[in-house]
Amino acid sequence: MFDISFSSKLERIIDDIAEKGWSEIPNFLPEDFCRSLLNEMISYWNSGEFKKAEIGKGDSQTRIPEIRSDFIHWFDPNNLTELQNQYHNIINELKDKLNRYFYLGLEDFEGHFAVYPEGSFYKKHLDQFRSQQLRQITCILYLNFDRKENDGGELRIFTDEGTIEIIPNACKFICFRSDQIYHEVLICKSNRYSITGWLRKTDVFGQ
Ligand code: OGA
Ligand code: MN
Repeated sequence: MFDISFSSKLERIIDDIAEKGWSEIPNFLPEDFCRSLLNEMISYWNSGEFKKAEIGKGDSQTRIPEIRSDFIHWFDPNNLTELQNQYHNIINELKDKLNRYFYLGLEDFEGHFAVYPEGSFYKKHLDQFRSQQLRQITCILYLNFDRKENDGGELRIFTDEGTIEIIPNACKFICFRSDQIYHEVLICKSNRYSITGWLRKTDVFGQ
Protein backbone atom coordinates (compact mmCIF):
# COMPACT_ATOMS: atom_id res chain seq x y z
CA MET A 1 0.00 0.00 0.00
CA PHE A 2 2.87 2.35 0.69
CA ASP A 3 5.77 3.82 -1.17
CA ILE A 4 9.21 3.99 0.36
CA SER A 5 8.50 7.48 1.59
CA PHE A 6 6.02 6.28 4.21
CA SER A 7 8.80 5.40 6.62
CA SER A 8 10.45 8.76 6.00
CA LYS A 9 7.14 10.42 6.92
CA LEU A 10 7.16 8.52 10.21
CA GLU A 11 10.76 9.64 10.77
CA ARG A 12 9.71 13.22 10.21
CA ILE A 13 6.93 12.89 12.77
CA ILE A 14 9.46 11.63 15.33
CA ASP A 15 11.78 14.57 14.65
CA ASP A 16 8.94 17.10 14.81
CA ILE A 17 7.49 15.71 18.05
CA ALA A 18 10.94 15.77 19.64
CA GLU A 19 11.60 19.31 18.47
CA LYS A 20 8.27 21.09 18.92
CA GLY A 21 5.60 18.65 20.15
CA TRP A 22 3.55 18.58 16.95
CA SER A 23 3.82 17.51 13.32
CA GLU A 24 2.01 18.22 10.04
CA ILE A 25 2.38 15.73 7.18
CA PRO A 26 0.58 16.54 3.90
CA ASN A 27 -0.28 13.50 1.72
CA PHE A 28 0.32 11.12 4.58
CA LEU A 29 -1.84 8.36 3.06
CA PRO A 30 -2.83 7.48 -0.52
CA GLU A 31 -5.73 9.46 -1.94
CA ASP A 32 -7.85 6.42 -2.87
CA PHE A 33 -7.60 5.08 0.69
CA CYS A 34 -8.63 8.47 2.12
CA ARG A 35 -11.55 8.67 -0.32
CA SER A 36 -12.73 5.24 0.81
CA LEU A 37 -12.57 6.34 4.45
CA LEU A 38 -14.54 9.47 3.60
CA ASN A 39 -17.18 7.41 1.77
CA GLU A 40 -17.53 5.13 4.77
CA MET A 41 -17.91 8.14 7.06
CA ILE A 42 -20.53 9.73 4.81
CA SER A 43 -22.57 6.53 4.78
CA TYR A 44 -22.64 6.55 8.63
CA TRP A 45 -23.54 10.25 8.51
CA ASN A 46 -26.37 9.68 6.02
CA SER A 47 -27.82 6.88 8.12
CA GLY A 48 -27.86 9.02 11.27
CA GLU A 49 -25.09 7.13 13.08
CA PHE A 50 -23.33 10.19 14.51
CA LYS A 51 -23.96 11.86 17.84
CA LYS A 52 -23.24 15.31 19.20
CA ALA A 53 -19.78 15.32 20.75
CA GLU A 54 -19.36 15.75 24.49
CA ILE A 55 -16.66 17.12 26.77
CA GLY A 56 -14.94 15.45 29.71
CA LYS A 57 -14.99 11.89 30.93
CA GLY A 58 -17.24 9.72 33.08
CA ASP A 59 -19.54 11.63 35.44
CA SER A 60 -18.31 15.00 34.27
CA GLN A 61 -19.18 14.26 30.65
CA THR A 62 -21.49 16.90 29.29
CA ARG A 63 -22.43 18.46 26.04
CA ILE A 64 -21.48 22.14 26.02
CA PRO A 65 -22.40 23.58 22.63
CA GLU A 66 -20.58 26.83 23.44
CA ILE A 67 -17.30 24.88 23.46
CA ARG A 68 -17.72 22.34 20.67
CA SER A 69 -20.40 21.62 18.12
CA ASP A 70 -19.08 18.71 16.06
CA PHE A 71 -20.65 15.27 15.61
CA ILE A 72 -18.76 12.02 16.10
CA HIS A 73 -18.98 8.31 15.41
CA TRP A 74 -16.60 6.20 17.54
CA PHE A 75 -14.75 3.23 16.10
CA ASP A 76 -15.67 0.06 17.93
CA PRO A 77 -12.26 -1.61 18.54
CA ASN A 78 -13.91 -5.05 18.70
CA ASN A 79 -15.78 -4.56 15.48
CA LEU A 80 -13.69 -2.52 13.07
CA THR A 81 -14.54 -2.42 9.41
CA GLU A 82 -11.84 -3.48 6.96
CA LEU A 83 -10.90 0.16 6.30
CA GLN A 84 -10.89 1.12 9.97
CA ASN A 85 -8.68 -1.87 10.64
CA GLN A 86 -6.23 -0.75 7.97
CA TYR A 87 -6.14 2.71 9.51
CA HIS A 88 -5.53 1.18 12.94
CA ASN A 89 -2.61 -0.81 11.50
CA ILE A 90 -1.08 2.35 10.10
CA ILE A 91 -1.45 4.17 13.41
CA ASN A 92 0.06 1.16 15.16
CA GLU A 93 3.23 1.58 13.11
CA LEU A 94 3.44 5.15 14.32
CA LYS A 95 2.75 3.99 17.89
CA ASP A 96 5.60 1.46 17.80
CA LYS A 97 7.97 4.07 16.45
CA LEU A 98 6.96 6.65 19.08
CA ASN A 99 7.44 4.04 21.80
CA ARG A 100 10.91 3.14 20.49
CA TYR A 101 12.04 6.76 20.45
CA PHE A 102 10.29 8.28 23.44
CA TYR A 103 9.45 5.35 25.75
CA LEU A 104 5.92 6.66 25.97
CA GLY A 105 4.40 3.29 26.84
CA LEU A 106 1.62 3.78 24.30
CA GLU A 107 -0.66 0.76 24.18
CA ASP A 108 -3.81 1.44 22.28
CA PHE A 109 -5.67 3.76 19.96
CA GLU A 110 -9.19 5.16 20.36
CA GLY A 111 -10.62 7.04 17.43
CA HIS A 112 -13.72 8.43 15.82
CA PHE A 113 -14.97 9.95 12.62
CA ALA A 114 -15.81 13.63 13.09
CA VAL A 115 -18.10 15.89 11.09
CA TYR A 116 -18.17 19.63 11.70
CA PRO A 117 -21.27 20.95 9.91
CA GLU A 118 -21.44 24.53 8.71
CA GLY A 119 -21.24 26.90 11.70
CA SER A 120 -19.49 24.45 14.03
CA PHE A 121 -16.19 24.83 15.88
CA TYR A 122 -14.19 23.58 18.87
CA LYS A 123 -12.84 26.27 21.20
CA LYS A 124 -9.28 26.28 22.53
CA HIS A 125 -8.53 23.18 24.64
CA LEU A 126 -6.07 20.43 25.57
CA ASP A 127 -6.94 16.80 24.76
CA GLN A 128 -5.63 15.21 27.93
CA PHE A 129 -8.21 14.99 30.71
CA ARG A 130 -7.08 16.58 33.97
CA SER A 131 -8.38 13.61 35.96
CA GLN A 132 -6.71 11.00 33.81
CA GLN A 133 -3.48 11.19 31.82
CA LEU A 134 -4.08 8.34 29.40
CA ARG A 135 -4.19 10.25 26.13
CA GLN A 136 -0.65 10.98 25.03
CA ILE A 137 -0.62 11.70 21.30
CA THR A 138 -3.49 13.16 19.29
CA CYS A 139 -3.68 11.93 15.68
CA ILE A 140 -5.90 13.54 13.05
CA LEU A 141 -6.38 12.60 9.41
CA TYR A 142 -8.29 15.15 7.34
CA LEU A 143 -10.64 14.03 4.58
CA ASN A 144 -11.68 17.30 2.93
CA PHE A 145 -11.45 16.84 -0.81
CA ASP A 146 -12.57 19.84 -2.90
CA ARG A 147 -11.91 22.22 -0.02
CA LYS A 148 -12.33 25.87 -0.93
CA GLU A 149 -10.30 28.74 0.44
CA ASN A 150 -13.19 30.21 2.42
CA ASP A 151 -14.38 26.96 3.96
CA GLY A 152 -12.91 27.83 7.37
CA GLY A 153 -12.37 25.05 9.90
CA GLU A 154 -8.62 25.57 10.16
CA LEU A 155 -6.90 23.90 13.10
CA ARG A 156 -5.24 26.63 15.15
CA ILE A 157 -2.28 25.46 17.19
CA PHE A 158 -0.88 27.56 20.04
CA THR A 159 2.92 27.50 20.27
CA ASP A 160 5.47 29.50 22.24
CA GLU A 161 6.15 31.51 19.09
CA GLY A 162 2.48 32.31 18.41
CA THR A 163 -0.39 30.61 16.63
CA ILE A 164 -0.27 28.51 13.49
CA GLU A 165 -3.27 27.75 11.30
CA ILE A 166 -3.40 24.40 9.60
CA ILE A 167 -5.58 23.86 6.55
CA PRO A 168 -7.49 20.57 6.93
CA ASN A 169 -6.77 19.32 3.41
CA ALA A 170 -7.59 15.76 2.39
CA CYS A 171 -4.92 13.16 3.24
CA LYS A 172 -3.08 15.52 5.61
CA PHE A 173 -2.11 14.06 8.98
CA ILE A 174 -1.52 16.05 12.13
CA CYS A 175 -0.30 14.72 15.42
CA PHE A 176 0.70 16.38 18.66
CA ARG A 177 1.35 15.88 22.37
CA SER A 178 -2.12 15.68 23.94
CA ASP A 179 -0.83 17.03 27.27
CA GLN A 180 0.96 20.07 25.87
CA ILE A 181 -0.49 21.47 22.70
CA TYR A 182 -3.47 23.81 23.05
CA HIS A 183 -5.53 23.96 19.87
CA GLU A 184 -8.90 24.96 18.48
CA VAL A 185 -11.01 24.40 15.37
CA LEU A 186 -12.06 27.66 13.75
CA ILE A 187 -15.64 28.07 12.65
CA CYS A 188 -16.52 25.94 9.63
CA LYS A 189 -18.28 27.36 6.61
CA SER A 190 -19.06 23.99 5.08
CA ASN A 191 -18.98 20.35 6.24
CA ARG A 192 -15.53 19.38 7.55
CA TYR A 193 -14.51 15.70 7.74
CA SER A 194 -11.76 14.05 9.75
CA ILE A 195 -10.72 11.03 11.77
CA THR A 196 -9.53 12.02 15.21
CA GLY A 197 -7.95 9.65 17.67
CA TRP A 198 -5.55 9.25 20.55
CA LEU A 199 -2.65 6.97 21.30
CA ARG A 200 -3.05 6.08 24.94
CA LYS A 201 -1.43 4.37 27.82
CA THR A 202 -3.38 1.47 29.23
CA ASP A 203 -5.95 2.24 31.83
CA VAL A 204 -4.83 -0.05 34.67
CA PHE A 205 -7.54 1.12 37.07
CA GLY A 206 -10.44 0.61 34.69
CA GLN A 207 -11.30 4.32 34.69
C1 OGA B 1 -10.55 17.19 18.93
C2 OGA B 1 -9.90 18.24 18.10
C3 OGA B 1 -9.12 19.06 15.97
C4 OGA B 1 -9.37 18.95 14.51
O1 OGA B 1 -11.37 16.42 18.39
O2 OGA B 1 -10.22 17.11 20.13
O3 OGA B 1 -9.32 19.12 18.68
O4 OGA B 1 -8.64 19.61 13.74
N1 OGA B 1 -9.92 18.17 16.74
O5 OGA B 1 -10.29 18.24 14.11
MN1 MN C 1 -8.65 18.43 20.58
